Amino acid sequence: MSKSKKIDRRKFIGRSSKFMAAATIFPMGLSYPISEKKPFKKLKVALVGTGGRGSSTWGKDLIDSYSEYVEMVGLCDSNYKRLAVAKKRIGTNAKTYEAKDFDLMIKETKPDSVIVTTIDSQHEKYIVRAMELGCNVISEKPVATEADQCQRIIDAEKRTGQKVDVTFNVRYMMESDAIKKIILSGDLGRIVSIDFQEYLDVNHGASYYRRWHGKIKNSGSLLVHKASHHFDMVNWLIDAEPLEIKATGRLAFYGKNNAYRDRNCRTCSFKDKCKFYWDMTKSKNAMELYGACEDVDGYYRDGCIWDNEIDSYDTSAVEVLYDNGTILNYSMNAFMPYEGQRISLTGEKGRLDVRIFARQPWETDHSIELRLSKNFGESKLWGITPPKGGHGGADSKLKDTLLKPNQSDPLKKRAGSRAGILSSLIGIAARESIETGETIEISNLIKF
Ligand SMILES: NC(=O)c1ccc[n+]([C@@H]2O[C@H](COP(=O)([O-])OP(=O)(O)OC[C@H]3O[C@@H](n4cnc5c(N)ncnc54)[C@H](O)[C@@H]3O)[C@@H](O)[C@H]2O)c1
Repeated sequence: MSKSKKIDRRKFIGRSSKFMAAATIFPMGLSYPISEKKPFKKLKVALVGTGGRGSSTWGKDLIDSYSEYVEMVGLCDSNYKRLAVAKKRIGTNAKTYEAKDFDLMIKETKPDSVIVTTIDSQHEKYIVRAMELGCNVISEKPVATEADQCQRIIDAEKRTGQKVDVTFNVRYMMESDAIKKIILSGDLGRIVSIDFQEYLDVNHGASYYRRWHGKIKNSGSLLVHKASHHFDMVNWLIDAEPLEIKATGRLAFYGKNNAYRDRNCRTCSFKDKCKFYWDMTKSKNAMELYGACEDVDGYYRDGCIWDNEIDSYDTSAVEVLYDNGTILNYSMNAFMPYEGQRISLTGEKGRLDVRIFARQPWETDHSIELRLSKNFGESKLWGITPPKGGHGGADSKLKDTLLKPNQSDPLKKRAGSRAGILSSLIGIAARESIETGETIEISNLIKF
């Protein structure tokens, strides 16, 4: 008898008696149910970091649109006043805990998953602790701002058997979908190089420098905080992993590059002459969530963009060599008159040019333009306009994948810890390369 056909006698009896029991419960004619619907169990989630993202996308939106699938059981933040504002805004009865009581929250509320939406530098400690306490994790990007944090996440995931999902909503954007499908169609052939230009305008770009993001100790720099989205997008598009990183960068505009500065806009003595003056009192939202809470931690949401302690590069260029030979040329500038991206992929058979017009002083027919040109062949131009909703509808699609049962994921958009770590590591390596002038090998930063 072949090995596969050998049936253990005890197993056989066990199986056949189960069948007989089923036949008794479901009399002949009715037979037994072909597919039994398992009772659906709501996912119990606790959230740490109840600021903008935590109280909206991962807070109010979950209660408003995902209550059928998710139960919010706990909220945690280092700022007790913001925690109270967020609880009200989210509209939940979940218990609130200060950051020092994170373990207690897990013990008392027993969540299946912890959603991590704190400032970037604090993600890792909650990701690791949540897994140690038996929870899965849904973390905002970047999962980490330092290489040793990345290592601790990998080690904790292995040690505990828990799982980390990383919320790369950019994978769910229309342009990402379109580019991925064109690559998979084979029209471009093997992708040899990618040029990726990130344009942040004087509104969006400056907004990072008003907030905690402007300091590397909080955000790992914009190369980690912001560009990790783009590095992940490229890693996912070409299904490859980074090997070596070389970068140049500087703080050319914000921070120390101005003659005057103050603590924050509301108290500023240069309101009249500073083009970047922002009157936060006009935003009820910001005044409640940040202004009314600033005495707790001294965090000013309208911080001065000329603060001498700002050190996150506003101008940078990064070169990445991938394990499949693809070369990425990435650049970011954070003080432009317009906002958007230009992404070009050069393949052996042709080139795809994508232009995303996010905000600019001129009219455009579409917010995304794509041009596919074939070597010795035709060139075709077309435009697409993303639907309304958080990040062009991407936030909802991401949440559907993570929170609704039985979602299909043909383009493999759901991202785990490895994707989260590799995208953060490109930014971390770029930072190290800027500081040392060296080419940085990913294998010297981490052991998977
Ligand atoms: N994927 C996206 O499109 C997207 C968009 C916005 C923000 N984000 C991410 O969401 C996260 C939060 O960003 P935000 O804009 O909401 O910032 P925010 O400043 O509004 O909120 C951060 C919150 O973290 C809290 N916090 C700080 N240190 C803490 C600690 N040690 N323990 C507990 N809580 C702590 C702060 O008090 C604050 O409430 C960031 O990691 C950011 O990268 C992602």
